Amino acid sequence: MAESITITDNRTGSSIEIPIVGGGVDAAAWRKLLPGIWFHDPGLATTAVTTSAVAEINGETGILRYRGYPIEQLAEHSTFPEVAHLLIYGELPTQNQLDEWVDLITHHTFIHENFRKRIYDAFHYDAHPMGLLTSGVAGLSTFYPEAKDIFDPDNRREQIVRLVAKMPTLAAAAYRFSRGLPFIFPDNAHDYPTRFLKMMFDVGGEYEPDEALVRAMRVLFILHADHGQNCSTTATRVVGSSHADPYTAIAAGCAALYGPLHGGANEAVINMLTEIGSYDEVDSFIASVKRGAHRLMGFGHRVYKQYDPRAVIIKKAAHDVFAVIGKNPLLDIALKLEEVALADDYFVSRRLYPNVDFYSGLIYQSLGFPTNMFTVLFAIGRTPGWLAHWNEMIEQNSRIYRPRQVYVGSERRDYVPMADR
Ligand code: CMC
Repeated sequence: MAESITITDNRTGSSIEIPIVGGGVDAAAWRKLLPGIWFHDPGLATTAVTTSAVAEINGETGILRYRGYPIEQLAEHSTFPEVAHLLIYGELPTQNQLDEWVDLITHHTFIHENFRKRIYDAFHYDAHPMGLLTSGVAGLSTFYPEAKDIFDPDNRREQIVRLVAKMPTLAAAAYRFSRGLPFIFPDNAHDYPTRFLKMMFDVGGEYEPDEALVRAMRVLFILHADHGQNCSTTATRVVGSSHADPYTAIAAGCAALYGPLHGGANEAVINMLTEIGSYDEVDSFIASVKRGAHRLMGFGHRVYKQYDPRAVIIKKAAHDVFAVIGKNPLLDIALKLEEVALADDYFVSRRLYPNVDFYSGLIYQSLGFPTNMFTVLFAIGRTPGWLAHWNEMIEQNSRIYRPRQVYVGSERRDYVPMADR
């Protein structure tokens, strides 16, 4: 059987055979035969915008692998810095490489004093921390103007180190600002998740996070580290494709992540569970989702048409955390929602299953994070993924993103003076 498709233009009878390579067909061949006829593909649901070697996702079989390594194995055995190295540089580091990498991302954690005082302090006291983070990351580009030199691999590496190192500092600073708490400098004596938790929650040097909490944080960062061409990675790539500096490109990723259909879903799940309020209200809530009055947040995925493999790991991590610090009271509502939804034809026929966000918010809440910090945590985890794709894109010397549209507006018409409208 030929691994190709043949397209015939019925207006002219001419046809073209396009080979199927790696599950895709080359749009350039289509363009050659059919100039001016565009794929109408809202949300890019059927378009592969690039080749990528970073993460493999199979939504039918529920597989997620970073550079070939199953997510389950990484969550079990790896650390977040190691996973970041794997995503960005393509291989698990040797001990020497890991030591050097950890040393770098430990010693670039500080942010400029002006930054905190002038940029963050300019916000209103109740500003959403994702607003602060997004602006903060964009603002960093003004502190590192040399980052514009994106075709120098050493320069790129330096900015990558800074971004992976500074994201937790920016995130914690956003939280402390919103609480009116004094900023805490990163303590290099700790590992990545512990350092972050201490910057967040320490008061008077007494905060020592429980090992189970550090473990949960590590797993959550790893699970969020990459997910192929998702909305925020695509936003990062779109901005990066114009050769903007990486801070500006990653700020675009943060902005895209903020929305409730993407990274904001974990916050929306907790708001939804709180609104449902009791186990007994679950059936009527599901009925309202089926009427189209709400979406079941934390359910459904563009790619996964079965249980999101990350949700399986997170559900287990949630139980581990609750075993140490007590059950989150919203857990029962979530479990019942899942049970009812998975037995209901509306969800079954649309292949809607829990995604990464369904249980992650419950853990975050139990760890003490306010809901408006949840997406910020997602952003810390996703930063290595964004950077891996940005770096890959620059190495591929890819073209600027410039999709077409199918114009459906007015035909040519003449300007109408105000008095005649
Ligand atoms: N609750 C109820 N119905 C849903 C849901 C949901 N969560 N998700 C999809 N549907 C329905 C939708 O109404 C449509 O039904 P119909 O065919 O009758 O019109 C059908 O399922 C297909 O939905 P879609 O909106 O075309 O699917 P999509 O691929 O465009 O959207 C999604 C994917 C994740 C945006 C969507 O499932 C959703 O809004 N989920 C809730 C938000 C959420 O949990 N987002 C986190 C995604 S995972 C983390 C991340 O990547 O950020």
